[in-house]
Amino acid sequence: MEAIGNKLENPVRAYAFDQLLILPGLGKIEPSEIDISVKIGGLRLKAPLISAPMDTVTGSRLAIALALRGGLGVIHRNCSIEQTVKMIRMVKSEKVPDSNALAPRDRQGRLAVGAGLSPMDIKRATALYGEADLLFIDVASFHNRKLVEGAKRIIGATGAKIVVGNFGTADGVRYAIEELGEENVSAVKVGMGGGSICTTTDVSGVGSPSTFAIEQAALALKQMNLLQRIPIIGDGGISKPRDVAIAIGLGASAVMLGKVFAACEESCAKTVWRSGEKYKVYWGMGSAQARKKRMALDRYQDYQKGKQIDEGVKMYLRVSGSVENAVGAIEGSLRVGMGYVGAGNLQEMHQKSMVVARA
Ligand code: IMP
Repeated sequence: MEAIGNKLENPVRAYAFDQLLILPGLGKIEPSEIDISVKIGGLRLKAPLISAPMDTVTGSRLAIALALRGGLGVIHRNCSIEQTVKMIRMVKSEKVPDSNALAPRDRQGRLAVGAGLSPMDIKRATALYGEADLLFIDVASFHNRKLVEGAKRIIGATGAKIVVGNFGTADGVRYAIEELGEENVSAVKVGMGGGSICTTTDVSGVGSPSTFAIEQAALALKQMNLLQRIPIIGDGGISKPRDVAIAIGLGASAVMLGKVFAACEESCAKTVWRSGEKYKVYWGMGSAQARKKRMALDRYQDYQKGKQIDEGVKMYLRVSGSVENAVGAIEGSLRVGMGYVGAGNLQEMHQKSMVVARA
């Protein structure tokens, strides 16, 4: 009660990526010497880039292209369990050239791949455990006791170590890790309402931009002494290479990208031609288009007795090129940024980055 009457006195600021900059630091590192690899859930990613489990982004084709380039694809869940398993197996059956030193691999040397799932879908979890290398809890908000209990049951039934999210505050991160046990959490994924196709904040007034959410997660993990053990994945609104540098500067170890990968040739978004140009049709998982398939409805709460409110929209993206090119562009920029900061690896980037807000 006391808080009422003082809420706007000294409001906490939450910044968009565009409003932030990292100050230069002293260093003598060449961009080519910079190591941008990260370890998540036992997988070594040579590029800290993960594709979103959305039905316009990650199917087997994109997951293969991204893994070959050092990142990780997370297969979407807006389809039957059998269809998801089929996509995972297609990734696993891809022949990887011996010369490829970038691709994350499983114990048998096959390409690594992740899969998204609902914390309430124990059937899918048990089917996918043993098929995919890393399971990602895929809900808009993991600040929810029921969903945390669901994840606990999945961990109990499979013994899997999972990526959990999304979170927007330090309290949410702390609660989930305490409930699930730190040894069962591979990474925390953060950011709410910041996605390019997201209308959650417009609909509800609630959200936590990825910049702010990363900082909150870092705070919680620091207090729990888990910063070195549990990586943070920034998710939503990361569209320019510079945003990736800022996310990592704030404390993220990897980023999840929807729009950037949806625009690539290999995404599972539909291709359409408009005035002689090639476009991809990208939509949010809470949009009317995605909800028609009904498999991922539980990503969002239903407050309207079956008449769900849209929390996402559809957009047309001009095809940008291949995944290889997209990853190359981001990697190049990240190396330049880390060079200016004087950071030789992602941990140094976390420690050395001084982030400032433009007035
Ligand atoms: P983007 O990289 O800015 O396009 O954001 C992608 C992220 O937005 C995904 O990884 C999800 O966390 C989130 N997201 C996906 N679909 C929706 C939606 O319909 N509404 C809100 N957020 C969404």
